[in-house]
Amino acid sequence: MSAPDRGGLSERLLRHFADRHRCDEHIGGPYKMTSRGAWATSRPEALLVFFRELGLERYDLFGDLGCGDGVAVCCAALFTRAVGIEADPELCRKALENAHTLGLSRRTAFVCGDFLDFRLDPFDVLYIYPDKPLDPLIEKLYGWSGIFLVYGPHFPPEGLKPLTSLTWHRETLTVYPCGDENDRLARPC
Ligand SMILES: C[S@@+](CC[C@H](N)C(=O)[O-])C[C@H]1O[C@@H](n2cnc3c(N)ncnc32)[C@H](O)[C@@H]1O
Repeated sequence: MSAPDRGGLSERLLRHFADRHRCDEHIGGPYKMTSRGAWATSRPEALLVFFRELGLERYDLFGDLGCGDGVAVCCAALFTRAVGIEADPELCRKALENAHTLGLSRRTAFVCGDFLDFRLDPFDVLYIYPDKPLDPLIEKLYGWSGIFLVYGPHFPPEGLKPLTSLTWHRETLTVYPCGDENDRLARPC
């Protein structure tokens, strides 16, 4: 799979999601209650900075647990292959449409369902913008190897040790190495 033209696509992506999220202003912004919690969106400007700083292209498969309208999956797809799992069918449909409009269909996939029901071992990066405490997910992460990325400061995962925290304006992303990745990142290069 060839790498996309990241510069041009980043600008298109930012314009696309700015337009989409502006369309939701009549309902108070991009926000809705779903069967599993609350949908709000990560800031794509922040994600593009964070993913570049992390060198996301070094990883094989990015997964967004609760992907909403696919904004983080589309940002990640500028660097690597990316999959979103979302419980809400309308948001799944929007995510598919957004990736399609941006020409990212070949680097992305979306699954409608509960992420707690899925195997996580195919992923080497997991991302979440949590809308509630992460305890049930943390249990699932035991034995998983990769980097776990948590957007925002509200629900830090109990029992995991952060490697670093990235900031862009008021947005934060905290990086938790898990399993073998913990050993690898702790070793000097
Ligand atoms: C705060 S939003 C984040 C959306 C997206 N990841 C982003 O960064 O823009 C959380 C999303 O996770 C979904 N969600 C929460 N728990 C879930 C679960 N167990 N399985 C699937 N989706 C879930 C919600 O429906 C909601 O759309």
